[in-house]
Amino acid sequence: MPLIELENIRFAYSPEEQPVLRGLSMSVEAGACVALRGDNGAGKTTLFRILNGLSFPQSGRYLFDDTEITHGLLKKQREAKRFHQRMGYLFQNPDVMLFNATVRDEIGFGPRQLGLPAAEAEARIRDCMALFELELLADKAPYHLSGGQKKQVAFAAVLALNPEVLILDEPLAGLDRKTRERLLALLAELRAAGKTLLIATHDDALCQSLNAQILTLEDGQIRE
Ligand SMILES: Nc1ncnc2c1ncn2[C@@H]1O[C@H](COP(=O)(O)OP(=O)(O)OP(=O)(O)O)[C@@H](O)[C@H]1O
Ligand SMILES: [Mg+2]
Repeated sequence: MPLIELENIRFAYSPEEQPVLRGLSMSVEAGACVALRGDNGAGKTTLFRILNGLSFPQSGRYLFDDTEITHGLLKKQREAKRFHQRMGYLFQNPDVMLFNATVRDEIGFGPRQLGLPAAEAEARIRDCMALFELELLADKAPYHLSGGQKKQVAFAAVLALNPEVLILDEPLAGLDRKTRERLLALLAELRAAGKTLLIATHDDALCQSLNAQILTLEDGQIRE
C-alpha cells in the first residue's frame, strides 16, 4: 500500500479560473525519493500545499497512510498534530515559515510543541543547528538573515521535528556551492535513513545525485 495516494485531484484557486490540477493522480511508496519537475506555474507548490493539508481539492481523494486527509479531519487538533508530525514541509519561500525572535527559538519551536523532554529538545536543537552550521547565528533574528541563511534555518526547523516524510520545495535554490554540497550530502543521508522524500526542483544534478524517481507535472497532471 502506498504511503501517499492522490486520486483524480482537481484544484482551482477560484471558480472562474481554469483549475491548476486537473485530474491528477499519483502514488508514493514509503521510503521513495521523488523529484517533481514541471515548468514555472505548472502547479508543483499547489500540489505540495494539498499534500500538507494547507489546501483541499474541489474533487478527488488524498489518502495518507490509508486515511483520507480532509479539511474536517485536520480541524481536529489531535489528528492535525499527528499528521503534521509525520510530514515536514519546507516552503519555497522561507519567509512564510519564520516567525520566532531568534534562530534558536525558530529551530526549537517544533520540538517544544511536540512536548519533548527539555533535554531531548535541547539536543535536537543543537544537532539541527550543527547540521547547517548555524551556531553563530543562534541569537540573530531570522527576519534579518540573508535569503540562503533563512532557507537553512527553515530546513533545520523542519528536521528538528524528525518527520518521516519530507516535502521540499526547491530546497537548493539560491544556495552557495559549499552549502549546496552540504545539503546534497544531507539529503542523501535522509534518503538512506529511509525517509520519504518529495522534492520540487529544476535541478538535474540534485535528481541524479539522489537517484530520484522523476515525475513531471504538466497540463495539471502527472506524467512519468
Ligand atoms: N494563492 C494563489 N491564488 C491564485 N492563484 C495562484 C495562487 N498560487 C498559485 N497560483 C497560480 O497557480 C498556478 C500554479 O502555481 P504554483 O505556484 O503551484 O506553480 P509552481 O509549479 O510551483 O511554479 P514555480 O516553478 O514557479 O515555483 C500558477 O498559474 C499560479 O499563478
Ligand atoms: Mg513553486
